[in-house]
Amino acid sequence: MAQQILVTGGAGYIGSHVAVEVLNAGHDVVIVDNFVNSSHESIPAVEAATGKSVTFVEADVTDRAAMVSVLRDHNITAVIHMAALKAVGESVDQPLSYYANNIGGLVTLLDAMAEVGVYQFVFSSSATVYGDAKEVPIPESAPLSATNPYGQTKLMAEQILGDLAVSDDRWSILALRYFNPVGAHPSGTISEAPKGKPNNLMPSVMAAARGDLDQVMVFGDDYDTVDGTGVRDYIHVMDLASGHVAALESLSARAGFDAYNLGLGSGISVLELIAAASKASGIDIAYEIADRRPGDVAASVADPSRAKADLGWSAKLDIDRACQDTWRSQKR
Ligand code: NAD
Ligand code: WQD
Repeated sequence: MAQQILVTGGAGYIGSHVAVEVLNAGHDVVIVDNFVNSSHESIPAVEAATGKSVTFVEADVTDRAAMVSVLRDHNITAVIHMAALKAVGESVDQPLSYYANNIGGLVTLLDAMAEVGVYQFVFSSSATVYGDAKEVPIPESAPLSATNPYGQTKLMAEQILGDLAVSDDRWSILALRYFNPVGAHPSGTISEAPKGKPNNLMPSVMAAARGDLDQVMVFGDDYDTVDGTGVRDYIHVMDLASGHVAALESLSARAGFDAYNLGLGSGISVLELIAAASKASGIDIAYEIADRRPGDVAASVADPSRAKADLGWSAKLDIDRACQDTWRSQKR
């Protein structure tokens, strides 16, 4: 049955792709964003990719009155909450903005939902909640820890959501722990456009392919991995988006709080990703080995079996496809 879904952070990289898949699943979408890390162009891009219209409200999720109005005015039935600040290094320098935005925004939104009587919630969590995991692939039952304020906000958010679900059994809440999101909509019209210098690997590799960066700095080649470089589980953003639809559609048949990994279940190294991007772009992407980046782990790979068993979801798209789709979006 068609629902009215609020997607916070829906102008962002993952949120715009999630909005596309929620629309494609036949639901109506209301996007709330304050553009702190995105642009107005995302909204028509989502509409062009789907041929459907979205309702857009420019607002801050820390604004309680605005959240109550959005939920009420649009008869929202469920919320996918993706609005957050996400730069790990910045969170170390500005912890208060991260706690105010990511925790303050979450609590305000949940409080507004309770006032209006909306109890279905999907939350953008992260594999960062596993800290330096001892067991790889990582199951949801692995110990949780945070190594920086950004990670701490995701960990605290999950604890808040767990406590809330215990307090009132009308809540149905799923936290989705994303591994490393990459890729873009196959149309090439929606892409990741980080403000400032890219920190993550795929944006850096694409900047080098475009010629905006001389070379990719490879952070360490002495890890205990296939070729010494860091291994990650790179999940295509369209797979991630379909995972949100699966989570959304399971909410009404369940209750309480639960968390699911969204990943492929297999990892590749930094050098393997550079090779895949070189193949997809036809450009020999230059790189140089540099020191390890503080705080990095050797390997982070999901055990995605619970999401498959409970949500009927699994990732389908590989790294070659992710590099082709990302490159197409860059060329535009
Ligand atoms: P993004 O920065 O592209 O998107 C976040 C969006 O939220 C942006 O459009 C931003 O303008 C908006 N926003 C931030 N604070 C807001 C506020 N107070 N009110 C309204 N809008 C606000 O980031 P993304 O990569 O699309 O990430 C989406 C979510 O997924 C975030 O919660 C992030 O922490 C989480 N996540 C991202 C990754 C990743 O590697 N990209 C991995 C794991 C989890
Ligand atoms: C991937 C690999 C680097 C850049 C981060 C956050 C995490 C999550 C996703 C939100 C590592 C190597 C990177 C470069 C490199 N975000 N690398 N040269 O660190 O796995 O995860 O984004 O929740 O919380 O920490 O992703 O893309 O930065 O790095 O060699 O220029 O690429 O060392 O092995 P990471 P990443």
